[in-house]
Amino acid sequence: MESQPTDAALTRAVVPWYLSRVYWWAYVDPRAIAFFERQWLVNLILWGNFGRLRDAALDTLGDRLTGRTLQIACVYGDLTRHLMERVAPGGSLDVIDVLPLQLANLERKLPAAHSVKLVHGDSTALEYESGSFDRALLFFLLHEQPAAERRATLEQALRVVRPGGRIVIVDYHRPHALNPLYWPMVAILRTLEPFALDLWADGIETWLPADTSAAISRRTLFGDLYQIVTLTVSGG
Ligand SMILES: C[S@@+](CC[C@H](N)C(=O)[O-])C[C@H]1O[C@@H](n2cnc3c(N)ncnc32)[C@H](O)[C@@H]1O
Repeated sequence: MESQPTDAALTRAVVPWYLSRVYWWAYVDPRAIAFFERQWLVNLILWGNFGRLRDAALDTLGDRLTGRTLQIACVYGDLTRHLMERVAPGGSLDVIDVLPLQLANLERKLPAAHSVKLVHGDSTALEYESGSFDRALLFFLLHEQPAAERRATLEQALRVVRPGGRIVIVDYHRPHALNPLYWPMVAILRTLEPFALDLWADGIETWLPADTSAAISRRTLFGDLYQIVTLTVSGG
């Protein structure tokens, strides 16, 4: 791992309560990685849409990523490797995650001589200077966070991305009423992902700070079950 967490960062980045109480089976227990780190399984969980959502997110970020890119939270599957491949010479990619075992898992997935900076930190209290990134990616993180943490994550992403920069969010969205997965997804999310249905009720803009100055665009996929939201920070 290229960057070691400071003592201060380790003290601050304790395991958030929703990970240890709700998502222990998905991320915190080491057996979770052995189980979930399979490309076919993450694809199945997204009803066969992993590659489509990954590529749509990457295309929204851009083909050739100059400057600094931040991925907020690790993701099972090959998203980060594909993101890394788009970083232009001279550019950089940081990935932050609050769980050291998830960062260690990502390290194992990347090629031996990669230059991705794996950083231990909390999305709700990013230890980066304001405006220090050109873009940030949030891939299926927000639906796992309770309201206060979701708001703080968005506030922090908006803080660290420079004016004119872009934040790309991929996550669940309320499906079209005729989508045959509507009720199965209600049952799945209610059972396993208790904060996710909040994202169905209200658009991403509901969770942004009141003084947010950013252009928002949204596209939905797969009968509206998924959304790709782009925030272009004003100014710059
Ligand atoms: C991006 S989300 C879900 C992604 C997707 N479901 C998948 O297949 O991996 C999962 C990651 O978010 C991380 N995470 C959750 N809350 C976080 C926080 N407050 N700060 C940083 N990382 C966080 C978890 O440790 C985990 O590695």
